[in-house]
Amino acid sequence: MNDPRTRALLALDRQHVWHPYTPADDPRDPLGPLVIDRAEGAFFWDSAGKRYIDANSSWWVATLGHRHPRLIKTLQTQSETLTHIALGGITHEPAAKLAQELTAIMPGHDDPNVPADRKLSRVFYSDDGSTAVEVAIKLCAQYWAQNGRADRTKFLSFRGAFHGETVGATSVGGIDVFRKVYGPLLFEVVQLPPPWELAQASVESIVERIAREADTLAAVIIEPMVQGADGMRTYGPEFLRALREACTKSDVFLIADEVFTGLGRTGPMWACEHAGVVPDVLCSAKGLSGAMFPFAVTVANERMYDGFRGDSTRAFLYGHSYCGNPLGCAIAREVLAIYRDEDVLAHAQSLAPTLAEGFARIAQRIPQAQRPRALGMLGAVDLSTSSSADYHSDLGWRVFAQARKRGVYLRPLGATVYIAPPLTIAHDTLHELLAVVEESVAAALSQSGSF
Ligand SMILES: Cc1ncc(COP(=O)(O)O)c(C=O)c1O
Repeated sequence: MNDPRTRALLALDRQHVWHPYTPADDPRDPLGPLVIDRAEGAFFWDSAGKRYIDANSSWWVATLGHRHPRLIKTLQTQSETLTHIALGGITHEPAAKLAQELTAIMPGHDDPNVPADRKLSRVFYSDDGSTAVEVAIKLCAQYWAQNGRADRTKFLSFRGAFHGETVGATSVGGIDVFRKVYGPLLFEVVQLPPPWELAQASVESIVERIAREADTLAAVIIEPMVQGADGMRTYGPEFLRALREACTKSDVFLIADEVFTGLGRTGPMWACEHAGVVPDVLCSAKGLSGAMFPFAVTVANERMYDGFRGDSTRAFLYGHSYCGNPLGCAIAREVLAIYRDEDVLAHAQSLAPTLAEGFARIAQRIPQAQRPRALGMLGAVDLSTSSSADYHSDLGWRVFAQARKRGVYLRPLGATVYIAPPLTIAHDTLHELLAVVEESVAAALSQSGSF
């Protein structure tokens, strides 16, 4: 039974809060939302003091866990001098230094084979993953419009892709349930099958397709190595390499959406590094600001920037109010420093085999848990035979309820059960998390008579 404060908060919530990705009358979670009072590291605590492991890093942002002490300190220190200033005609230390530090760790930054004008050298600041993608789309469209190729207006993307919530990002997205109702608002894209579905022969046909469409294509956009929101669909680096080659050959921009995969989620700092691929534009958000602040960057190469030189009619007339916010920039700088100082990637790499084994074991033990997969610090299994997330299935939600009882926040993607915990999670906690995932899947399926 909830205490009076919790009951009152839940009543206010029911009356006034419109939750994201949640049906108005939510039958999937009869207990109602968790009331969370505190979070730290890989854990958060509800109003009754019950501890939960944050299995999805709070929608993939808490790569360093919650409330990293150095980030709290940075927020305090930066607040003492400058919390916000417009970036129009003004710069400041956090924005200038972060841009330099980011460009120094971009894929290909130290590769002598990458020509100077193809290095990711220009940082455009925005607010979240969706706006980072929106910026990328507009940059590519405007580049061609003012550089003699006004016919290059189309974007090519993949079924199963997710690139964010805004109308442009939804247009290049490829998950039906998120696109369908907005159909009339979306711009037309060339949509190809998801990368994980492709055999070598079809990779070649995609490469040919890009060459064929090149005259009208502005850019190709892809989630490198894994389509996250469609159920953690992983694929190999060869596809990325073939895509990079095809884009280079046809002179089409390649946008890597690293909003989910960046900051070490899949192993290296950027998922493009699995394939040794340097995109023309890279989008990053989520973990970049360490679960402290909405913050994003779109990093473009020098060639793109050069395409905007000239008189004022050629400027990129775009910018959000909070673009380059000093608190966000200072926090992102500290996030990068923590990655360096605490060797976060090495720690994550030491955990990855345990995570992969955990998911392999679940699939071995539970026949209905199909297609176990893992890449770096993410792992998943499907509970339905469908090869996409199957969003309206309630199977994942039954697992969610079981995990909630056992002190794990395990929000599913439809019938796909996955984890993407903080990269800094302790070995013991990861073992505990994997055991709860296994028990919860077994309990949910036996309850429904399928196991
Ligand atoms: C690959 C990818 N791109 C873009 C976005 C949108 O990011 P945001 O929710 O910060 O707008 C997401 C969100 O999950 C994502 O996974």
